[in-house]
Amino acid sequence: MREVPDFPRPGVVFRDLTPVLADPDALRAVVDALQDKIDPDTQVVAAVESRGFLLGAALGYGWRYGVVPLRKPGKLPAVSHRVSYALEYGEATLELPEGAVQPGQRVVVVDDVLATGGTAAAACSLVEAAGGVVTGVSVVLEIPALGGRELLAGRDVSALLAV
Ligand code: PRP
Ligand code: HPA
Repeated sequence: MREVPDFPRPGVVFRDLTPVLADPDALRAVVDALQDKIDPDTQVVAAVESRGFLLGAALGYGWRYGVVPLRKPGKLPAVSHRVSYALEYGEATLELPEGAVQPGQRVVVVDDVLATGGTAAAACSLVEAAGGVVTGVSVVLEIPALGGRELLAGRDVSALLAV
């Protein structure tokens, strides 16, 4: 992992996992460790754009989950639900594709980083709006100083690393 000061805004120290993903052994170790903490009844990975896609696809292929992309606005041809929320460095919206999560399906939310928790909380509410059951939130890296777990109170949150 590398720390990049003043990205994407002055004052933000950006934790960049690109070097981890670029290393074949590190990528495999991270994906395996994420899988170890996923509830065994999980059927679907909801992967958050954009770095969550990389992890979500690897988990889906490796352990036979369906993968549902939670996308930034304007990317999906058919949207079932949409939610806007505050970020550490701005505001964002996520959208859930129509028909991607079935009522009662058990879904884990996967992303690279948990910072303020706004993104993960939005992802959980999208899954639940479609009738899915969130089995947990799995991330590689948590930044505890930003308090993300508060927005996820009562949820099963697992992070491989906290800095
Ligand atoms: C980052 C990160 C998470 C989110 C975490 O994504 O990948 O999705 O922010 O922040 P939060 O806990 O404060 O909500 P970003 O919005 O930078 O998008 P990107 O992955 O497309 O670069
Ligand atoms: N790294 C990656 N994603 C993020 C960060 C960060 O430091 N902060 C908020 N989202």
